Amino acid sequence: MMEKYAVFGNPINHSKSPSIHQHFAEQIGKKISYETICSPLDDFATNVHNFFKNGGCGANVTVPFKLAAFELAEFKNNAAQMTKAANTLFIQNDKLIADNTDGIGLVKDLTINNGFNIKDKNILILGAGGAVRGITAALLNESPKLLSIKNRTKIKAEDIVNDFTKLGPIKLYDDNSQEFDLIINATSSSLSNDKLDLHDLPYHQQTICYDLFYSDELTPFLQNAKEQGINQCLDGWGMLVEQAAESFNIWHQIRPQTTYLINNRF
Ligand code: ATR
Repeated sequence: MMEKYAVFGNPINHSKSPSIHQHFAEQIGKKISYETICSPLDDFATNVHNFFKNGGCGANVTVPFKLAAFELAEFKNNAAQMTKAANTLFIQNDKLIADNTDGIGLVKDLTINNGFNIKDKNILILGAGGAVRGITAALLNESPKLLSIKNRTKIKAEDIVNDFTKLGPIKLYDDNSQEFDLIINATSSSLSNDKLDLHDLPYHQQTICYDLFYSDELTPFLQNAKEQGINQCLDGWGMLVEQAAESFNIWHQIRPQTTYLINNRF
């Protein structure tokens, strides 16, 4: 019987995950089914249990269920523990296991696909929501010089700093911050097409701006960065492909090649 996989979300229509996972499965000559499941907001747990009861082998989880997926799991792997959120679920020894591949997906995209070595770099993260929690531990794990957090609502940025300070050098953004080598937009401002004000942020000629969102056109954040004279603008397409490759590896114990999808958006 064909192995069954799915991604849970709401909304989920436009998810690229089925096509990405089918592409990976073809690489290893495996036939899988991978469907999108739009779960009602109050019925996520039942839907997940039914999926696995009916032979599901693995599931991805996206907005707004990452926290619920973490809470539902009977065992949480390290990355999920750190972020208190899960994007990958599977069954092992009859137990529901949660993992999170978002952070490692970003790190792989930065380091391998874009040759950006995180070690000793000065990094700014904009935002303080779930997306920031998803990437902070993985970035600190690569020994940056400093991770600064800046958010519209300051208290939420303070919570992030407090929650992750034991993992490495992290602090609130302040006016004395030195020039950043990398500025990451992890706010949801791209969704609402809002512009973030960047002109006060310290950066240099080689600074990279990275938006966790992806889009065929420049996101408002990257558009703004370009207008400020920043040349290296990256969006989250590479991260999307790499987090999927990490989930695939967890389920199939083979890490697929990502280069083709990175270079051929759809
Ligand atoms: P996600 O899971 O995508 O991180 P979230 O937890 O709702 O979503 O967090 C959204 C983040 O984007 C928050 O940091 C939010 O700032 P506030 O904490 O001040 O709400 C930030 N955000 C959303 N729209 C924004 C905008 N137009 N300008 C600046 N920050 C914005």
